[in-house]
Amino acid sequence: MRLLVTGGAGFIGSAFVRLRLRSTDDAIVILDKLTYAGSLDRLADVRADPATGPRLELVEGDILDVSLVESLVEVADAVVNFAAESHVDRSLEAPHAFATTNIVGVYVLLEAIRRAQAGSARSIRMVQVSTDEVYGHVAAGIRRESDPVAPTNPYAATKASADLVTLGYHATYAVDCVITRGVNTFGPFQHPEKLIPLLITNALRDSVLPLYGDGMQQRDWLYVTDHAEAVARILDHGDAGQIYNIDGTGQRDNRSIAQAVVTMLGRDPALIRSIADRAGHDRRYAVDATRLRAIGWQPQVSFDHGLAQTVAWYVRNEEWWRRMKSGPWQDYYARQYDERIARSVPLADE
Ligand code: NAD
Ligand code: TYD
Repeated sequence: MRLLVTGGAGFIGSAFVRLRLRSTDDAIVILDKLTYAGSLDRLADVRADPATGPRLELVEGDILDVSLVESLVEVADAVVNFAAESHVDRSLEAPHAFATTNIVGVYVLLEAIRRAQAGSARSIRMVQVSTDEVYGHVAAGIRRESDPVAPTNPYAATKASADLVTLGYHATYAVDCVITRGVNTFGPFQHPEKLIPLLITNALRDSVLPLYGDGMQQRDWLYVTDHAEAVARILDHGDAGQIYNIDGTGQRDNRSIAQAVVTMLGRDPALIRSIADRAGHDRRYAVDATRLRAIGWQPQVSFDHGLAQTVAWYVRNEEWWRRMKSGPWQDYYARQYDERIARSVPLADE
């Protein structure tokens, strides 16, 4: 297949590109704006490898650029959209880019597909990579794909909007769309703004590990290679017009993750502190992935094994994450954390 992978220089997109190049004969064009979150280092191995490098092309650009997107979609068999503004905390302080990239960008991709197919027998599949956050806080039980969306923060609201636009293009124009709703993902090369790499890299510098509120919020965690495998499975075997939840390997609360990181790195548990909570913070996410099981996917990497691998990777790759934490990161960190950390309180061990 000729795949257009948008956001392929991101955390999960790059893992997907690596998987496809190594396990198929696909030729891949990546379209990525290389925002603060994009990093070509994530693709260095597959670019350098003679078995995969010649089948990979990188285009630096924006999914909002209609003529660029049209020219790339024109020669694609499928589009897999990972491009997004992906961090909830940033969506609270600056939602504009979330609305444009996450909603209008998806519309631009779908419209380019519709135009490329018009008057021909061509069918271009669109995989919209979404998130379990569209369901909002799940007080009890697990959410199925047929459950309503109820997002509670700007990031999740833009992702839910994009899902609806995607379903609209399927219903109206018969564009061959599938939507994936994956849970919280972790692993090597994740930007250190997200919880797990933030905890690891702060611990490595003996800095405070800041947990919002009581730190008892729960997420279902998925290792990045498993997320990539799930998207590949849905690309190849998903039914048009369907949504597929992607679950993880079990619920964990944030506090237990911080404690595990501190133990693995032999740091002082007193570094774990409670800071002022995130606005609209969802306490729990949980999804049912029966539909995805039926097309033959299940997670392979346990949380504990994945966390050990991830910690070892950040220990070995300090140069990469120090670079990600330099420059504008320092202003972001100061805005987001300095005052809250100054007023933080210890989290008692329970
Ligand atoms: P990421 O922030 O690491 O990567 C996003 C990539 O998109 C970056 O390379 C960035 O440069 C690129 N990008 C941003 N705006 C763009 C634009 N306008 N045009 C082109 N490229 C642009 O994100 P991620 O964690 O890899 O997430 C990928 C997708 O998976 C997102 O859609 C996200 O909503 C979804 N998702 C993420 C998680 C998670 O835990 N990380 C869980 C479920 C779903
Ligand atoms: P995050 O990695 O931002 O993912 P999401 O908000 O998409 O779930 O956060 C995961 C959990 O960790 C969430 O409950 C918020 C919490 N968290 C903290 O307690 N402290 C932090 O500094 C960050 C970034 C997150």
